[in-house]
Amino acid sequence: MTRFSGRVAIVTGGGTGIGAAVARQLSREGAEAVYIWGRRKAPLEALARCDARCMPMTVDVGDENAVQNAVAAIVARHGRVDLLANMAAISGPCVPTERYAMADFERVYRTNVFGTFLTMKYCLPHMQRNGFGAIVNACSCSGMRGYANEIGYGSSKFAVLGMTRNAASENGRNGVRINCVSPGWVDTDMMDEVLRGYEALEGGSPCKSELDHGTMDRPATPDEVAEAVCFLLSDAAGYINGANLTCDGGKTL
Ligand SMILES: NC(=O)c1ccc[n+]([C@@H]2O[C@H](COP(=O)([O-])OP(=O)(O)OC[C@H]3O[C@@H](n4cnc5c(N)ncnc54)[C@H](OP(=O)(O)O)[C@@H]3O)[C@@H](O)[C@H]2O)c1
Repeated sequence: MTRFSGRVAIVTGGGTGIGAAVARQLSREGAEAVYIWGRRKAPLEALARCDARCMPMTVDVGDENAVQNAVAAIVARHGRVDLLANMAAISGPCVPTERYAMADFERVYRTNVFGTFLTMKYCLPHMQRNGFGAIVNACSCSGMRGYANEIGYGSSKFAVLGMTRNAASENGRNGVRINCVSPGWVDTDMMDEVLRGYEALEGGSPCKSELDHGTMDRPATPDEVAEAVCFLLSDAAGYINGANLTCDGGKTL
């Protein structure tokens, strides 16, 4: 018997980075099926080729119909969805508030905020009906502290933390738990993109607190953050609801 034996899981952003590491771990530890969601087919199919339990689904989490239909298809096939790891997000531009375009703000919120809301909205009824479910949302140090040049991304992660607590407070006694994980820097495509954004920033380099790796002096690997996500998805976290597990190498001490 392994930790996720027989579980049916959805991992948004499951084709790359932390999401792919979560999907691989769920599969390795016995999940019946791990549905990996993303907008691009190629990374999803690449992971599915290496791991037969990872099922690719091209779903834009900001598209309500797409989310509703994808959850319905999974439930039609398996009768349930047990686990949801909301890892999909975009970082948006690296510019000060006065130069941040409204269109970018909307784009970031559509994935990071509305996407997290929509997947919870459409998975929760099935989890509640079955009396079991675990959801983990990807928050960030950026959703706990105010960092410069990321008003869209940072505030979207504050919203993810808030939504996690809102939804957690509505559940719990019914067997459904909702928590979030807050990484610091993690060695993924997103980290590379943000660092490129800092390099291109006009008017000098960002303040030290943004680039700081905390006590560890290195970014996390995706697998290290996936461990924290999978702990909260597992029954070992059975009394943990509404928590924010920082996995930031001590960055926010
Ligand atoms: N890397 C870090 O330093 C860091 C730090 C703190 C928090 N985080 C958080 O950790 C999570 C995972 O990020 P990561 O570092 O693993 O970055 P990543 O490799 O860029 O992964 C993000 C994933 O989200 C997917 N995605 C983006 N928009 C989507 C949409 N609208 N619908 C469906 N999927 C979408 C992307 O695939 P497509 O482009 O194909 O859709 C991609 O697979 C994110 O929530 C991020 O905010 C990361």
